[in-house]
Amino acid sequence: MTICYFTGTGNSLYVARRIGGDIYPISQLMRQHEIVIKDEAVGIVCPCYAGEMPMMVRDFLIRADIETDYLFLIYTYGMNYGAAFANAKVACEDGGLKLSYVNAIKMVDNYLPGFEVQNQLDTLPKKDVEGQIEKLVADIEARRTTEVKIGGGTKAKMRMQKALMADRILKRDAAKEYMVNEDCILCGNCARVCPTNNINVTDKVRFGLNCEVCYACIHNCPKTAIHLKNEKSAVRYRNEHVTLQDLVKGNE
Ligand SMILES: Cc1cc2nc3c(=O)[nH]c(=O)nc-3n(C[C@H](O)[C@H](O)[C@H](O)COP(=O)(O)O)c2cc1C
Repeated sequence: MTICYFTGTGNSLYVARRIGGDIYPISQLMRQHEIVIKDEAVGIVCPCYAGEMPMMVRDFLIRADIETDYLFLIYTYGMNYGAAFANAKVACEDGGLKLSYVNAIKMVDNYLPGFEVQNQLDTLPKKDVEGQIEKLVADIEARRTTEVKIGGGTKAKMRMQKALMADRILKRDAAKEYMVNEDCILCGNCARVCPTNNINVTDKVRFGLNCEVCYACIHNCPKTAIHLKNEKSAVRYRNEHVTLQDLVKGNE
């Protein structure tokens, strides 16, 4: 089994590892000239952003030459995945692929404008992440399939989410609005964890125009020096099973 993952704060990497198989970061695969994946089962694990997958994952599904009998896509999310399953089906079809199975694992929500991280951590036991993963793994082992129906209500949600993506939450230049304060020690961690190599650290931190809005830079800053104007949380997050080095390695 081959698993390809995208992660900002480690949730999706953790789920990818728990599913098992040969695991590859999509940020690295996307730097290859050709992406050819042939396996009996192939899985994608990524966060849900505004009911969608990261833009890089959509691009990956278009670019990658994937040959498999069993393709699955697993989102990690915090509160509500909206029409994400329908978006997964459409994204696979756009890439000429048939999605066999889709699911989502509810974990810590790292969306700083929406949630207080400490509260997310305090209420995490209620989400029973391990129980969710065990069921997911059993489904995949049994090669269960899901059918995603796209009715009128789902189409409306998908339209709304597209608008959100385009206009508000997910803009490739979103990082232009990140603020770096005087606590920054120019350590470069933000640049090393960025899946799109969008950050350059010299005498100051500079953000480019290819942000995935994964918040890896913000959550992994050792000095909490990177901020959003509208953040609701002073606390930062990385999945407890994932190290800073794991994230850096995934982007090398
Ligand atoms: C820009 C952005 C948008 C998000 N949108 C949603 C959403 O629509 N629904 C949801 O439940 N969680 C949302 N989240 C939370 C993430 O999907 C969740 O924390 C995920 O597990 C993070 O995965 P990672 O640790 O692999 O990066 C969003 C997070 C970010 C940064």
